[in-house]
Amino acid sequence: MSLYRNIVWFINGMREYTRSGFENASKSFAAKDLDLSMVGRSFMITGANSGIGKAAAMAIAKKGGTVHIICRNKERADRARDEIISASGNSEVYVHVLDLSESRKVWEFAEAFKREHTSLNVLINNAGCMVYQREMNSDGMEKNFATNTLGVYILTKCLMPLLEKSRDPRVITVSSGGMLVQQLNPGDLQTERAPFDSTMVYAQNKRQQVIMTEFWAKENPRIHFSVMHPGWADTPAVATAMPQFYQMMRDRLRTTEQGADTAVWLAVSHAATAFPSGLFFQDRKPVSAHLPLAWTHSSQHKVKVFMRRLENLAVAVKPLEMAVTS
Ligand SMILES: NC(=O)c1ccc[n+]([C@@H]2O[C@H](COP(=O)([O-])OP(=O)(O)OC[C@H]3O[C@@H](n4cnc5c(N)ncnc54)[C@H](OP(=O)(O)O)[C@@H]3O)[C@@H](O)[C@H]2O)c1
Repeated sequence: MSLYRNIVWFINGMREYTRSGFENASKSFAAKDLDLSMVGRSFMITGANSGIGKAAAMAIAKKGGTVHIICRNKERADRARDEIISASGNSEVYVHVLDLSESRKVWEFAEAFKREHTSLNVLINNAGCMVYQREMNSDGMEKNFATNTLGVYILTKCLMPLLEKSRDPRVITVSSGGMLVQQLNPGDLQTERAPFDSTMVYAQNKRQQVIMTEFWAKENPRIHFSVMHPGWADTPAVATAMPQFYQMMRDRLRTTEQGADTAVWLAVSHAATAFPSGLFFQDRKPVSAHLPLAWTHSSQHKVKVFMRRLENLAVAVKPLEMAVTS
C-alpha cells in the first residue's frame, strides 16, 4: 500500500506540484481576490525569515498588513525584516525570536503575545522541519513532532482566545502533499517504536496538521481554519532535507512566491472564507486530503485519541505558573 501511495503521489506531483502545475492552475485564479488592502489587520507568520514564509510575509506587508514574524534565529530574522520593510515600504514588521521545537517556550511566547496585543487576525503556521535523526528537545519530545505538530498545537490553542476576539480571524497551516502517503498514527507520536525514517516522520506530522485543522474547524466556529499544500517550491528546506529530489527537480520547482500564493490567498481573500472551515487547499482550491483508494481516512475515535494525546503532552510541558493561572 505504501509503494502504491508513493507512486500515485509522485505522478500527481509531477503534473500538479511543479512550476508548470502552478502556471496551469493560475489560469483560473481571479486577480481581484488579492486586490485588497490589509491595513489595520495583523498577521503572525512562523518561519518567515526564509522560503514560503518570507514570501508570504512580503506579500502581506506590501498590502499594508502588520506582520509578526516568528523565527528561531535573530540575525536571520532581522535580515528578513529589513528586506521586507525596504521592499514593501511598510515598517509594521516585527521580529519575535522563538524556537518552535522548544515546547515550553512556545507556551511562554504565546501567553506573552496574548498579554501584549489586543488583536491578531491571522495566524499562518508555516515553520516546518525534517530532522534526519531521532533527536529530543529539552522537554524530552522528538524534534520533528515537537516543531511540526506540538508547536503548531500549542501556539494555535494558546492564541485562540485572542483570534476569537479579533475581526474575521483565520488560521492557516502550511502542510505538505507528502502527508497523502500517511494515515494518522496516534499510537507512536514520537517514533519510539517504528524505525526512524525522517521523510515518513515528516509526512506523518503533516497528516497530523490536516487532522488538527479539521478538528479545530468543528470545535471553533468563530475562526476560519484551513490547511494547504504549497506545491514543490525552491527553498532551503527542500535543498537540504531532500538533496537528491532537489537535484532532479530543481528546474521544475516553483518560486517561493508561487509556493506562498495559496497561503496568502487563504489569509487575505474574501473568496477563501466563502469555503467551509477546515478544508485542505492546493492552488486556491479545496482538494481531497486523501489519494484515491489509499485507505488513509481516520475514524472519529482515532482522531479523538490523537487530539487527547496532544492535549496531554501540551499540558505536560506547560510552565507551572501558567498551569496555575489558567
Ligand atoms: N518548499 C516546498 O516544496 C514545500 C513543500 C511542502 C511543504 N512545505 C512546507 O512549507 C513550509 C515552509 O518551508 P520552506 O519550504 O519555505 O522552507 P524554508 O525556506 O527552509 O523555511 C522553513 C522555515 O521554518 C523555520 N523553522 C524550522 N524549524 C524551526 C523551529 N524549530 N523554530 C522556528 N522556526 C523554524 C526555518 O527557520 P531557519 O531559517 O532558522 O531554519 C525557516 O524560516 C514548511 O512547513 C514545509 O514543510 C514546503
